[in-house]
Amino acid sequence: MGQITLNQVTKSFGETQVIPPLDLTIEDGEFAVFVGPSGCGKSTLLRLIAGLEDVSSGHIEIDGRDVTDVAPAKRGLAMVFQSYALYPHMSVRKNIAFPMKMAGVDQAEQDARIKKAAAALNLTDYLDRRPGQLSGGQRQRVAIGRAIVREPEAFLFDEPLSNLDAALRVGMRMEIGELHKQLATTMIYVTHDQVEAMTMADKIVVLRAGVIEQVGSPLDLYHNPRNLFVAGFIGSPTMNLISGAEAEQHGAATIGIRPEHLTVTQDGPWQGTVGVAEHLGSDTFVHVHGTGLAETITVRQAGDVPVRHGDTVRLTPDLSRMHKFGADGLRL
Ligand SMILES: Nc1ncnc2c1ncn2[C@@H]1O[C@H](COP(=O)(O)OP(=O)(O)OP(=O)(O)O)[C@@H](O)[C@H]1O
Ligand SMILES: [Mg+2]
Repeated sequence: MGQITLNQVTKSFGETQVIPPLDLTIEDGEFAVFVGPSGCGKSTLLRLIAGLEDVSSGHIEIDGRDVTDVAPAKRGLAMVFQSYALYPHMSVRKNIAFPMKMAGVDQAEQDARIKKAAAALNLTDYLDRRPGQLSGGQRQRVAIGRAIVREPEAFLFDEPLSNLDAALRVGMRMEIGELHKQLATTMIYVTHDQVEAMTMADKIVVLRAGVIEQVGSPLDLYHNPRNLFVAGFIGSPTMNLISGAEAEQHGAATIGIRPEHLTVTQDGPWQGTVGVAEHLGSDTFVHVHGTGLAETITVRQAGDVPVRHGDTVRLTPDLSRMHKFGADGLRL
């Protein structure tokens, strides 16, 4: 069981409050992702849950047990960091066994847990190697293995993939997702990569300056961002935000239209000039200037759209997919 509850938790460093009073519940077995720009407090929040930082006020509960004053090692959580800090002189097997050795787990049980973790992480053939003989992705898997064998109530990941190259990240992202399904253990995963958040999470927690801007499923946030910040943060390329007369016509201070809900057409209502056209093969991203709506309007269209830099194009928005926001930035 691994339900985690934060009640009115705050954190200050000296005079500076980085987390104003915050309430949050992560359900047992859930995959929760904390996402937000650099410095918004993602790592701080994770470290508070882990007990690596003391809360300034408020309470943290794990399965209804108040752990606010409980030492990190006694909280039943396992944390995996961006820098995986393996012992270079020890084999993979010994690295994975290390926390069990510290906890005095007997040898037969250690062997059984190592076998299970290695199988889950495709490390069975690498147990006798040293970290120096592994790829970055394999090393990160060893670090995760070391967390798994502790059989924690919950895993806490702080940007575990950000040292890996793009292809490895995608692979590891899926492996962590599979692992979550297999173990069905609560996981909290910190990233500033919103694609990672969208693909991995049951629940996304969007943070800005220590404040939760929205909590919801990935598609919830995509379809119903509750304010301009979330609208602009979730989705890639980002949502086009248009204010002024065009928005007022729709009864809003700002309207939002995602790039995938615009099409390049012969007779669309909006006209502009192509700045950059990115031909990815599967999609084309067309960045259009001079529409008078926003500095750039980005269009994402499936397939190869034959437009080039300097072309004059017309755009048709799918108005049924339009998002409306008031002057206070909140969704209407
Ligand atoms: N030990 C500390 N002393 C003082 N300020 C700190 C300390 N740790 C973090 N902060 C401040 O708290 C705020 C939140 O930092 P935190 O590391 O949680 O951000 P983050 O969301 O994890 O950012 P990133 O995406 O860059 O990792 C920042 O303004 C940071 O400067
Ligand atoms: Mg961080």
